[in-house]
Amino acid sequence: MSKFTSTDRVANQSGNEPLDAVIDRFLSRRTVMKGGLGAAIAMIAGAGLTGCFDGGSDNDDDDRVTEPTPEPSLQLGFESIPGSKIDAIAIAAGYTARVLAPWGTPLNNMARAWDETGNNTSEDQANSAGMHHDGMHFFPLNDSSTEGLLAINYEYIDQDALHPNGATNNNGVRPAEEVRKEINAHGAGVYLIRRNAEGVWEVALDNRNRRFTSATEMAIAGPLAGNAALITPFSADGTRTRGTNNNCGNGYTPWGTYLTCEENWPGIFLNTQAETPADQDRIGIETEETNYGWETAAGEEASGTGEFSRFNITPTAGGSATTDYRNEANGYGYIVEIDPYDESTLATKRTAMGRFRHEGAAYGNLVAGEPVVYYMGDDAQFEYVYKYVSDAAWDPADTNPSDRLATGAKYLDNGTLYVARFNDDGSGDWLPLVPETTVQSGGTLADLYTDLPGIILNTRGAADAVGATPMDRPEWTTVHPTNGDVYLTLTNNSRRTEANAANPRVPNVNGHIIRWTDASETTFNWDIFVFGSDDDTAATNLSGLTELNQFAGPDGLSFDSRGILWIETDNSGNAVADYTNDQLLAVIPERIVDAEGNRSEITAENQTALRRMLVGPNGCEITGIAFTPDLTTMFVNVQHPGNWPYDALDATTVTPTGTEVRPRASTVVIQKIDGGQIGV
Ligand code: FEO
Ligand code: CA
Ligand code: CA
Repeated sequence: MSKFTSTDRVANQSGNEPLDAVIDRFLSRRTVMKGGLGAAIAMIAGAGLTGCFDGGSDNDDDDRVTEPTPEPSLQLGFESIPGSKIDAIAIAAGYTARVLAPWGTPLNNMARAWDETGNNTSEDQANSAGMHHDGMHFFPLNDSSTEGLLAINYEYIDQDALHPNGATNNNGVRPAEEVRKEINAHGAGVYLIRRNAEGVWEVALDNRNRRFTSATEMAIAGPLAGNAALITPFSADGTRTRGTNNNCGNGYTPWGTYLTCEENWPGIFLNTQAETPADQDRIGIETEETNYGWETAAGEEASGTGEFSRFNITPTAGGSATTDYRNEANGYGYIVEIDPYDESTLATKRTAMGRFRHEGAAYGNLVAGEPVVYYMGDDAQFEYVYKYVSDAAWDPADTNPSDRLATGAKYLDNGTLYVARFNDDGSGDWLPLVPETTVQSGGTLADLYTDLPGIILNTRGAADAVGATPMDRPEWTTVHPTNGDVYLTLTNNSRRTEANAANPRVPNVNGHIIRWTDASETTFNWDIFVFGSDDDTAATNLSGLTELNQFAGPDGLSFDSRGILWIETDNSGNAVADYTNDQLLAVIPERIVDAEGNRSEITAENQTALRRMLVGPNGCEITGIAFTPDLTTMFVNVQHPGNWPYDALDATTVTPTGTEVRPRASTVVIQKIDGGQIGV
């Protein structure tokens, strides 16, 4: 999450009861929600995927449909490390950390080498690693754990690092070349990586490696494809758009594709109308100035291209959807599906999964003959949690389709979008965002938004209307590989104003992790797994954290295939930040049970279960996580470091005092010195 690109405005004015109010009541009755111990942990090594990139064979990346194999010996095998505040990675004993593909790394032979003066061109940038690495996934070639495609998000930019001397602004006008470079530093990438003879992961320069930028042509699919709201001068039939932006968390599919999620994209669009459309108000389209002023370069664009003018979506007098860019922002706010294995395919925006500030997407465990389900957060203060349920029933034969994006269309273009209401007795309801759903004010969503495309275009407004629960910034979701429990990070909410002695989480400056289990398609049961806090403030430290695991600002979140839950933080401005930089922690939830053997939350009694494995360099957040199938390599991302990296082969090398490097967000490769599995 960028501090610069996120909005300070609270867009949700619905008055729906926020989650903090629910939790305040719930805290006093937590015992009602302790469920039975989940299914035994499975030892499921994700097997490989293959495809056009290598012409390979089978495709069974996701083995969560297989029967769990009990693995009672699964235990964390590293000792928690203290906090760290240095210009280097700190990591648990027995592990190495190396730098892979930092910002500006050439991905094909159309890019020149990265220039430490910041003088690479926009064309170089379009063919190199983008800036501010975020969500990612490893797609193996031929089931390999030494060669595969890394699909990765580039969330936002640091203009001071991107350009030789920061951003140029000539009396409110940005130069075209700088803007092009900024547009090209955003988006996503897919590139080949492999381990060399020394075991070091490297980028394989290959002209099939791809970048997706905030200008790349993409397809619109699902309910909004061909809708009048998607018609632009670029796409008269409303089936294409240009670009993806502020790609934050990610997801992937059982059929071998990558999902990149558009989060703080409203910050690139400007509408200066006196009265702006309701969906634009609700999502937070800019009305005075944009994050980077890309629209101000319009004077240098080639006639008719809309290269920069498309970011100004103010309707022109006497204009229409085919003569101005009033509809350009309607092509943003989606989950975008990419086939990493076939470089000939278009990235495709799956509009059925809703339009909001998407953080990530995690699918529920698969059952043959049942729908495919995705859980998704909308990361802003007082926003909501969503799930998507496919119309199509899961067919295990689709783990290896001949056409991955056609399979994506089968499951992701037709389905039901739900929004969560958390009740104070530990139950919850999934409220369907469909035309016939009754709204709180009387009538139905059809009365407010006409039809499904109208609902999706203003997903947040529809969620307000049905009474969803406003949350403390829903970030990543992840699903336990065998028991199906869904975990969600709620990173913080500084705007909580109902502080009192009886409510220790108001304001919620530290964040927490909530979890739930679906009881049916429309109901669930939830509890709080852990509250972030420093270890000294009793009023906030409700989970009894210690110096060795205190954390705040939980953001990235992912189960690995064994059932280890990895927690990544994006924290600042509190006592935990005074103690340590952002970090990576691990815990095995199924190892945390109470005296009766029921699953438990994290408490003062089980602190050694939650361990800190890694701490990032000064200024960064830790985000993005991926594994090789054999779990001997873990990839995490260091985003917006301050003065790092200094030594690519050893990310724990401290940048020497007095040395200033041009900071580069980067993937960090974690391996065990003995070559074994990560974490155990
Ligand atoms: Fe881009 Fe919600 O962090
Ligand atoms: Ca964040
Ligand atoms: Ca994030």
